[in-house]
Amino acid sequence: MTEMSPVNQASPVPAKMAMPDAQTVTAVTHWTDRLFSFRVTRPQSLRFRSGEFVMIGLMGDPDPKTGKQKPLLRAYSIASPSWDEELEFYSIKVQDGPLTSRLQHIQPGDQIILRPKPVGTLVHDALLPGKRIWFFATGTGFAPFASLLREPETYENYEQVIITHTCRDVAELDYGRTLIEELKADEMMQELIGAENLAKIRYYPTTTREESPKMGRITTLLEDGTVFRDLGIDGISPETDRGMVCGSLDFNTDMKALLEGFGLTEGANSEPAQYVVEKAFVG
Ligand code: A2P
Repeated sequence: MTEMSPVNQASPVPAKMAMPDAQTVTAVTHWTDRLFSFRVTRPQSLRFRSGEFVMIGLMGDPDPKTGKQKPLLRAYSIASPSWDEELEFYSIKVQDGPLTSRLQHIQPGDQIILRPKPVGTLVHDALLPGKRIWFFATGTGFAPFASLLREPETYENYEQVIITHTCRDVAELDYGRTLIEELKADEMMQELIGAENLAKIRYYPTTTREESPKMGRITTLLEDGTVFRDLGIDGISPETDRGMVCGSLDFNTDMKALLEGFGLTEGANSEPAQYVVEKAFVG
């Protein structure tokens, strides 16, 4: 799955550039022509809570007048858990996107900029205790849940962990599906999290354009009760269920309305409640 590039091919990212907050790329995986994930070194002093995001990027092109370069930064959810030695990110490739048109070409040994100031609302601290946690993702919105699914606290806090992922095509589910399969099969993870805890995961992938075993937007499948029938669950209630949402702006808005309709109230770091939405997520 890892896309190999010839070693002598010039990279658009200078390998050793004098950049502030530089971190070195250690691995890159291309999942589709629109999606890739990568790992970078972790600053020793960086502490974060699983589910948070940081600003990452590259130096922009020199200003034609002054010749000065400014960093080009975007918010990216950290996809790796808080205990991991490295940091992982999951990104879309936008061919004419200012950052991702270049970022998609990074290779091991290249450097990126990483501002070590993690923040975010998709954290356990923003939720009140409950029995069941729902992670609702579309597209690259899976990233913070890739972190939280590998976080032991998720399983300490909840009896059931349901992750739904809606994408247009089947191949766009690969990153998440592979991560969950490997998580369940990995000996180190079984030791760290516990096989009985990993058994709490219910994975519910859906596609909206390409044919797959479960078609439809998760919002529709929640509204018409299909999800509950499929999972053998009565429904979502404020007494037992907690939710985290990460996807496009429209998706976040629609999910918010749905969860409010089920009687859940939105939480924040300062005031934990029953569901949270990732506000900074772009793309
Ligand atoms: P759809 O194909 O019906 O638009 P995108 O690639 O545009 O970011 O979308 C990722 C996935 O999220 C797609 O499957 C898309 O479905 C779905 N999606 C987009 N907007 C919403 C929404 N408001 N509610 C539920 N699903 C959505």
